[in-house]
Amino acid sequence: MIDMHVNLGGLEMRSPVAVASGTFGYGTEYSGAVDFSKLGAVTAKGIRVSPWPGNPMPRHCEVPGGLVNAIGLQGAGAKQFLEMSVPWYSSRVKNAPPLIVNIWGGSIEEYAETAAMVDAASKTEKGAKIGAAELNVSCPNVKEGGHAFGQDPAVLERLVAAARSATSLPLIVKLAPNVPDVVPYVRACENGGADALSMINTIPAMVIDVEKRRSVLGNTTGGLSGRCVHPVAVKMVYDCRRATGLPILAMGGVYTATDALELIIAGANAVAVGTATFTDPSTAAKVYDGIADYLGRHSIASVAELSGSLET
Ligand SMILES: Cc1cc2nc3c(=O)[nH]c(=O)nc-3n(C[C@H](O)[C@H](O)[C@H](O)COP(=O)(O)O)c2cc1C
Repeated sequence: MIDMHVNLGGLEMRSPVAVASGTFGYGTEYSGAVDFSKLGAVTAKGIRVSPWPGNPMPRHCEVPGGLVNAIGLQGAGAKQFLEMSVPWYSSRVKNAPPLIVNIWGGSIEEYAETAAMVDAASKTEKGAKIGAAELNVSCPNVKEGGHAFGQDPAVLERLVAAARSATSLPLIVKLAPNVPDVVPYVRACENGGADALSMINTIPAMVIDVEKRRSVLGNTTGGLSGRCVHPVAVKMVYDCRRATGLPILAMGGVYTATDALELIIAGANAVAVGTATFTDPSTAAKVYDGIADYLGRHSIASVAELSGSLET
């Protein structure tokens, strides 16, 4: 019997395969369409303190091997999410795994406020499915100059520490790949009190309609995801694993079990399927089956044993 269980910084996952934020709604939308029993966690679309309208249309554009999106973090706001979506997810989704609540904000205080709301909800019966909080640090720090929180290690450390003091849930920090060296960011997460890291967020990108000489996206720029970002994710996981013992949830172009296995061998403890779900909602379940098959063929007793097993 192969052990597919993962403990991601305190988050108990029955499977090493999760789904990534922004590609699976609030977890409820895929109910009935997907076999949740093979999922280790569902990451909800990012939420902030209050509702947010997102960016002007068009918001996405397909490119060779990927997708450029600029949804702009449209969302219901923490109150509605916690009072409506989370109870719905917990009571009506069959075999629902723990929910990872993805949090964003325009200031450190906003992150901490949302984290505290999520923490309080997780201690109620209706919020019992909340298993972890994940900080999306790739959005602009409105109060302090507009640079993304995740682009300055000192700011990142303060942000993680503030969220840490607001919640006792397992705290995952989601890192972006567009930094010259990940190590200072990993240290900031460690020092701030993170329990785990996730990576990669989308890569800044832009597409131009040459006939109109205008950007295709209403927001002008967006974030690249999908197959084409996968090697970037593998490299970032490899770099982070060499720098830290924190557990890693890896995402970025996972379409097949082979993609997931690469990330696990590079050092990830678990993986999440993102953009691939849009073309095939059963991708995560197929990835789970493929990992189990690989472990069986190679006589490896557990997915934990494979993690970080890269031969050098
Ligand atoms: C349409 C869309 C919306 C996303 N929304 C969020 C979000 O709200 N919060 C977040 O942290 N990441 C968000 N992401 C990033 C994904 O969770 C994931 O990190 C990234 O897309 C790389 O994985 P993939 O190539 O498998 O999609 C979004 C991605 C897409 C494509």
